[in-house]
Amino acid sequence: MSAEVHTVAVIGAGKIGELVLSGLLRSGWPADRLLATARRPARAEELAARYGVRVVDNLTAVDEAEVLAVAVKPQDAAALLDEIGPKVPAGKLLVSLCAGLPSSFFSRRLPEGTPVVRVMTNTPALVDQAMTAISAGAHATGEHLALAEEMFKPLGATIRVPETQQDAVTALSGSGPAYFYLLVEAMTDAGILLGLPRQVAHDLIVQTAIGSAVMLRDSGEHPVKLREAVTSPAGTTISAIRELENHGVRAALLAALEAARDRARELATQAE
Ligand SMILES: NC(=O)c1ccc[n+]([C@@H]2O[C@H](COP(=O)([O-])OP(=O)(O)OC[C@H]3O[C@@H](n4cnc5c(N)ncnc54)[C@H](OP(=O)(O)O)[C@@H]3O)[C@@H](O)[C@H]2O)c1
Repeated sequence: MSAEVHTVAVIGAGKIGELVLSGLLRSGWPADRLLATARRPARAEELAARYGVRVVDNLTAVDEAEVLAVAVKPQDAAALLDEIGPKVPAGKLLVSLCAGLPSSFFSRRLPEGTPVVRVMTNTPALVDQAMTAISAGAHATGEHLALAEEMFKPLGATIRVPETQQDAVTALSGSGPAYFYLLVEAMTDAGILLGLPRQVAHDLIVQTAIGSAVMLRDSGEHPVKLREAVTSPAGTTISAIRELENHGVRAALLAALEAARDRARELATQAE
């Protein structure tokens, strides 16, 4: 962490905001350099009790924090910006975690010159295995991107992408954990169909997922090579793969990610 620790306010600390808050605390970010805001008083009390951070109203957060990490749902962003936008003092950095919303959505509602960084993270942040993509919006300098990286690095991996790629990132890694969970759920059912007890099927597939993920990350091999190593001529795996191809799994993934990307675009239109 840099010598100067910035005060970060998580504005709208729901599921994703809480992941950021807890991740920053795990990484050693001092609790007195963190603020959170919530809409419901019960949620505010819960966050204060769980993390020992100050939960304040939005305008206090805007006033006191140097970095405003906005984690409300896209459809709540316009109302939030109506409230805080005109009150954001010069020199603050706004980091948006909102799916779909372009940085220009925020810039238009903020004082001229306010830097905006757009970020897409994902829920494995809970176990410090997030994938976070970071993009410069208007007025964001290398220093602002570095600060966003400093915030998200402790939560997992980070990558810089042009903002034009963020809806694709949202479809791929933002929503990505859900696709893997669906796959694991379906494969567990398949194990049960073949006569395995549920817990055994679950344990087999979870460890297989972990092992495959580590191989993908650490072996340096292309996924095709890794798959070929499990696919012997006239063997069991190729019989399964024929069925996956017959059922259009590859085509389904292409269509699914396009649908997620389109939905991200739609959210932006609706948020206006
Ligand atoms: N969930 C994911 O996997 C994921 C992944 C990547 C990015 N994101 C993005 O992260 C953002 C948050 O998603 P989420 O799943 O964390 O939603 P969430 O759990 O509903 O969190 C949003 C929070 O913002 C609060 N809020 C709304 N308006 C507010 C306001 N004006 N002032 C203060 N607090 C306010 C809500 O309060 P109430 O609870 O009282 O309504 C809620 O606690 C979204 O923009 C989403 O696109 C989500």
